[in-house]
Amino acid sequence: MPLDIETPLPYQRDSACPFDPGPRLRQAQREGPMHRYRLPNGQDIWVVTRYDEVRQMFTDPRLSSALTPLTLMLPGLGDDQLEVSPGSFVNMDPPEHTRLRRTVTSSFTARRLRELTPRLERIAENCLDGMEETGPPADFMTAFAFPFPLLAICELLGLTDAERDEFIALTGKAAAGLAATPEEAKDLVDHAHRFMLGIVTAQRADPRDGMIGMLVAEHGDELTDEEIVGISNMFLSAGFDTTANTIGLGLLALLDNPDQLALLRDDPAVLDTAVEELMRYLSVISATSGRTATEDLELGGVTVKAGEYVVPALAVANRDPAHYADPDRLDLTRPPGQQVGFGYGVHRCTGATMALLELKIAFSALLRRFPGIRLAVPREELAFRGYTMVHGALGIPVVW
Ligand code: HEM
Repeated sequence: MPLDIETPLPYQRDSACPFDPGPRLRQAQREGPMHRYRLPNGQDIWVVTRYDEVRQMFTDPRLSSALTPLTLMLPGLGDDQLEVSPGSFVNMDPPEHTRLRRTVTSSFTARRLRELTPRLERIAENCLDGMEETGPPADFMTAFAFPFPLLAICELLGLTDAERDEFIALTGKAAAGLAATPEEAKDLVDHAHRFMLGIVTAQRADPRDGMIGMLVAEHGDELTDEEIVGISNMFLSAGFDTTANTIGLGLLALLDNPDQLALLRDDPAVLDTAVEELMRYLSVISATSGRTATEDLELGGVTVKAGEYVVPALAVANRDPAHYADPDRLDLTRPPGQQVGFGYGVHRCTGATMALLELKIAFSALLRRFPGIRLAVPREELAFRGYTMVHGALGIPVVW
C-alpha cells in the first residue's frame, strides 16, 4: 500500500499517463537543472532534473550516500527508525563501498549470467504455465510480473526450495514495503534478518551453489556473517520489486503502443534495444534516495552547500529533450543512449546486466506464449501506486 501523503516532486507522475513524469517536474526541468524543493517533512532538497547534471552528480565524490539519512525521502519515519545494515553498500561511500561491492562482481560475469540463463528461462516458462492454467483472465502482476523476478533472485542467491517459500511468504507481507507502519516495517526487517542469518550460518558449514555460497567460500574470511546477511537482503530488496514493476509497466506500455508490441513480438533482433528503451521510458525508480554534500560545490549553475541534500530525478532526466530526440515516444529501436534508470557512477545498479537479461527473457517468453495478450478491463480502470520508491501498476488484468 502506498504512503498516504502528497508524492514528493522527484517521484511525481502525470495523472494522465503513468509512464510520464508529472507536469511540475517537467516545468522544473524546463526552468533549469537544479530545483530547490521542500519535502513534506519540511526538509529542503535540491532536485536534479536534467540528464547531464544527473550524470555529473553521480560521479562527484563530494556527494555522499553514507551521510544521507535513510529516512530523508520517507516522511513517516523518524531518523532513528531505519539504520544502515552492515553490508548494505548502496548506503556507503568508497572505500567501504568498493570493498563490499567487489565481493559480488563474480556473480555477474558474462559466464555466470550465461549459466543462469536456461534456469531463468525455465522459471519464466513455469510462471506462464501457471498463468495459462488459471486464466484467462489473469492478473499479470500476480501471475508473472512478481513471481518471475522473485524466483530469479532466489536462484541467483542459491536459496533452497524451502527457504524460497519462506522468503515468498515474507515478501508477500512486505509487498510495497514503504507502506507498512514503522512498527510493521521494523518487524519485517527483523524477520528478514533472522531468516537470512539462518541461511548464512548454514552455508558457512556447507556452502551451496549461488551468491551466498560464493560469498562464504571466496570472501568468508573478510566478510562477517552480518555483512553477508546485509548484502543478501539488499539484493533481495533491490532486485525484485524494481524488475517486477518494469515487467508490469513494460507490458502496459507495449499494449498502449501496439506497433511497438508487434515489432518486439515479430522481430527478436530488437530485444537488446527494446529493454534499454523500456528502462528509459518507464524509469520505475523515479529518483534514488539522495546524496549529501560533504563540502560546498557547484552543480548545474548553483552552489550546493556542505550538508545540503541532492536528489537525482531519474525519470525526468531520462526524458530530457536536450539528450533524447522525441523523448516521450516509445521507440524500441532507439540506439541505447546510456539511460540513467539504473543510476550511474560507482553505485550504478550492480544487477543491471541481470535485470536486462530478465526483461529479455520475460518479454520474449510472454509474447511467444500469448501473442494476442490484451487488457481484460478498460485501460482507464487501471490504478497505479501512489508514493512508493518503485513506481508500478496495482494490477494488470489480461486475457489472451
Ligand atoms: C529493472 C530493474 C532494476 C532497476 C530499475 C534498478 C535500479 C537501480 C538504481 C537506480 C540503483 C542506484 C541506486 C543509487 O545510486 O543510490 C540501483 C542499485 C543497485 N541495484 Fe538495481 N535495479 C534493478 C534491478 C536490480 C537487480 C535485478 C539487482 C540484483 C540482482 C539489483 C541490485 C542492485 C544493487 C545491489 C544496487 C546497489 C549498487 C551500489 O550501491 O553499488 N538491481 N539499482
